[in-house]
Amino acid sequence: LNIGVLVSGGGTNLQSIIDGTKFGNIKGNVNVVISNKENAYALQRAKHNDIDAIYETNEDKIIEILKKYKVDLVVLAGYLKIISPKFVSEFKDKIINIHPSLIPSFCGGGYYGEKVHQAVIDYGVKFTGATVHFVDEVADNGPIIMQKTVEVKQDDDAKTLSKRVLEVEHKILNESIRLFCENKLSIQGRRVFINE
Ligand code: GRF
Repeated sequence: LNIGVLVSGGGTNLQSIIDGTKFGNIKGNVNVVISNKENAYALQRAKHNDIDAIYETNEDKIIEILKKYKVDLVVLAGYLKIISPKFVSEFKDKIINIHPSLIPSFCGGGYYGEKVHQAVIDYGVKFTGATVHFVDEVADNGPIIMQKTVEVKQDDDAKTLSKRVLEVEHKILNESIRLFCENKLSIQGRRVFINE
């Protein structure tokens, strides 16, 4: 399957997906990476792996590019923009997102990047984690594919916690993409069933 990845930052999730297609067990290939940030290091990572890397901020153009590359799966990997209902409907049930918390906690508007981990620490929860979900019309709200917990340690700060959560993000994102490419995910209402 052709995988299109949308990024905004450093691209460690993108790197993990690329590695998963090259050395891991993802039966797919990343054939285009699009960023809304011109200097996102994620674009460099794409170039280093001979993958077309495109800076684009206009959503209609992004949709056109994804269609031109015949993308079968769109992955939002650290993509810090909310996509429109039109975008969602163009790729219904073919867009997945990784969020660095256990949805529905610490998600939705304003909760992104380090802010999530600071809110987790400030609230005093004992566990956080990461969530991979299908994207629907409401931010961070679509059917959940996979989650994995991360213990919050007493001496954690947002930086140390984000590092441990990021490792878990890479793991469950790759696993979710592997399952999608093997057509092992089925959505029933809000629930996603894994037919391994
Ligand atoms: C990180 O905050 C990560 O938790 C979230 O997006 C941000 C950047 O990730 N998913 P990446 O290193 O650009 O993939």
